[in-house]
Amino acid sequence: MLTVFVALAAVATVAPPVDGTRAFFVFGDSLVDNGNNNYLATPARADSPPYGIDYPSHRPTGRFCNGKNVPDLISEALGAETTLAYLNPELKGNKLLVGANFASAGVGILNDTGVQFAVIIRIHRQLEHFHQYQRRVSSLIGEQQAQELVNKALVLITLGGNDFINNYFLAPITPRRLQFNIQDYCQYLISEYKKILQRLHDLGARRVLVTGTGPMGCAPAEILLRGINGNCAEEPQRASAIFNPSLVQMISGLNKELGSDVFVAVNAVDQIFDSPQAFGFVISNVACCGLGPYNGIGLCNPASRLCQNRDIYVFWDAFHPTERVNRIIVQTIFNGSQKYMSPMNLSTIMELDSRT
Ligand SMILES: *[C@@H]1O[C@H](CO)[C@@H](O)[C@H](O)[C@H]1NC(C)=O
Ligand SMILES: *[C@@H]1O[C@H](CO)[C@@H](O)[C@H](O)[C@H]1NC(C)=O
Ligand SMILES: *[C@@H]1O[C@H](CO)[C@@H](O)[C@H](O)[C@H]1NC(C)=O
Repeated sequence: MLTVFVALAAVATVAPPVDGTRAFFVFGDSLVDNGNNNYLATPARADSPPYGIDYPSHRPTGRFCNGKNVPDLISEALGAETTLAYLNPELKGNKLLVGANFASAGVGILNDTGVQFAVIIRIHRQLEHFHQYQRRVSSLIGEQQAQELVNKALVLITLGGNDFINNYFLAPITPRRLQFNIQDYCQYLISEYKKILQRLHDLGARRVLVTGTGPMGCAPAEILLRGINGNCAEEPQRASAIFNPSLVQMISGLNKELGSDVFVAVNAVDQIFDSPQAFGFVISNVACCGLGPYNGIGLCNPASRLCQNRDIYVFWDAFHPTERVNRIIVQTIFNGSQKYMSPMNLSTIMELDSRT
């Protein structure tokens, strides 16, 4: 009797999401990892101060930022709770219906990206986790409801940066550099990325934001390694200039094949580097937190120099932007023009989706 009562109570407390909210799923690398790597034995982690110094808890959470990252700010703008890391044991019951963050710092499009980080969750494994998640939600609310939750969800995927920074450009000579010139490497990455997006569609995703890499040569780590006089490094810049437009093109073709605008290309970062001052930034080539020239060596840690005013820096650490940059990215995702959001911005998508 008691067990029956408990079982009924458990079913009753798990209701499908209320009107107006949609689940949110996140895949990709450190730009969007909400703490999965904290559960893994990998050096690719942001679990020591001053990471998180401007986060509501003022503690490190595994996010590679001083404060909130892009997924947090998308959730905030949607009026939803932030998604939990998939490996977080608190992700169970009702919390599953909010969505989940499958991202893992250090990963790329390719399996050989980030090998130096050992046991990170590579993208194919992230997609397996998504499948596993759907089985868990099915047993909670039924298969049909679970499928509807996934079909109506918003998805974000951020990949590609590490395939350059932590693979092709990792050393003066790398296996991928010996195999491909930059142009051909970009085409290879795009063709592999297309398969990943198709798999995401097969798994039920119907609205997917796909972010470009931004200007990779402008990261303080790259300026330190390869830049001249503090300017953005040329080769990674050339890679960005090929990869990002190719991504837009691939997505446009994929949407045509699918007969639906499932995928949306996001290129929201270049505008900031074009005129940092216009956005109120004063320093764009030195990280707020770090060591060495441009604070460009390694990740941020308790021994790092730390800037006073985080809001005037584009970069938080040698690779990752400040919360203020993330806010501009998310504003652009919602309200940006077609120059940055292709084929359309998230406000338009939400308007379209609210009619069906
Ligand atoms: C990467 O690994 C997955 C399995 O984990 C495999 O399905 C996929 O084909 C591999 N990708 C490449 C490009 O080898
Ligand atoms: C987008 O624009 C609308 C209308 O101007 C505004 O209410 C909303 O806050 C903006 N969204 C974001 C995330 O900036
Ligand atoms: C983006 O969003 C705003 C509303 O916030 C809208 O006015 C604008 O036309 C949209 N732009 C595109 C290209 O979809």
